[in-house]
Amino acid sequence: MAVLLTGGAGYIGSHTAVELLSAGYQVVLADNFCNSSPQVPRRIEQLTGKPAPIYQLDVRDADALEQVFKENQVDAVIHFAGLKAVGESVERPLLYYRNNLDATLTLLEVMAKYSCHRLIFSSSATVYGDPERVPVNEDMPVGGCSNPYGRTKLMIEQILLDAAAADPGLSVVLLRYFNPVGAHPSGLLGEKPNGIPNNLMPYITQVAAGIRDHLNVFGNDYPTPDGTGVRDYIHVCDLAEGHLRALEYAETHRGAEAFNLGTGVGYSVLDVVHAFERANGLTIPLVFAPRRAGDLPAYWADAEKAARLLNWRTRRSLEQMCADSWRWQRNCD
Ligand code: NAD
Ligand code: UFG
Repeated sequence: MAVLLTGGAGYIGSHTAVELLSAGYQVVLADNFCNSSPQVPRRIEQLTGKPAPIYQLDVRDADALEQVFKENQVDAVIHFAGLKAVGESVERPLLYYRNNLDATLTLLEVMAKYSCHRLIFSSSATVYGDPERVPVNEDMPVGGCSNPYGRTKLMIEQILLDAAAADPGLSVVLLRYFNPVGAHPSGLLGEKPNGIPNNLMPYITQVAAGIRDHLNVFGNDYPTPDGTGVRDYIHVCDLAEGHLRALEYAETHRGAEAFNLGTGVGYSVLDVVHAFERANGLTIPLVFAPRRAGDLPAYWADAEKAARLLNWRTRRSLEQMCADSWRWQRNCD
């Protein structure tokens, strides 16, 4: 019995592969490497001492995907594959709709053909749009996403809910990630953004490495304790563990269920900068810049449902996220 990880060479997929292999699962990876490196499967094997077979394919290619199901007894799928850059999705919306929606539809069809009934989907806190209050819980309405990337997540959630409603044998878990950061403590796996990073943590690590001059803090006039934006940063290894718990849940529950994966704690941009400085003994030069278009002032997860039903809690501190991010930055060139 194997778990197929689409997008398994990517940032979150690779960390999840390590967790699954370490827990005794067999994994198969499928990735077209459009945003990852072919070296990643080898690093997963190096870390775990177990095989991580990789199929280089586009998940939209039904014939190639079928080959995976023919050659392996795929018992469950974790569907990470997708494009995720918010800004690019505004510039190239059709690319995002075509890639993210088609990949999911093709996957669902192939899964049905091979009687595979368990699916974990990488969704995002972005599906809540501009939430009416914080912390955000799973009963709050979804919608009002401000960009095509977010709308692909919303549409895929809806597709999966419909698929689960029509097939009582299907088990779907929608995992709504908050802000994944950090890297494997070995320094062998992490996220390597293309070009100028959009996200806070990789930007900070590039400033620390001298690649960028200073951090632009987008807005210091938000209605938050220090005026900067507040988010729920979660260590990617904690997030990876959440996928194990979701797989176990899906084994015993039918239908579709959504879970927030966050720590339940919000930190401001300045909190993150100061934690990074403390954890690594460095100073991060910063400049206050105007607010970034489309940013919300503050949101973080209500993580109670995942604690109660998945028996999952985060364990790693903000300092640990910062230390591991910096180790990876120094190793990844
Ligand atoms: P990532 O880009 O590192 O990983 C995605 C992987 O999917 C990449 O290796 C890419 O090459 C692959 N891929 C993309 N389209 C494909 C296709 N059609 N066929 C085969 N492979 C394909 O991203 P990540 O940060 O690991 O994110 C994983 C998932 O989690 C994505 O669906 C993303 O939208 C979602 N997510 C990420 C975040 C985040 O901040 N990182 C937050 C919320 C949700
Ligand atoms: N920020 C800066 N300077 C930077 C980068 C970010 O001040 O150079 C601030 C932002 O304004 C925000 C916070 O840092 O207040 C976090 O920003 P990120 O870009 O790291 O993360 P976001 O919360 O904006 O977006 C992330 C993912 C999206 C996902 C969203 C919701 O990047 O894909 O979370 O889950 F949709």
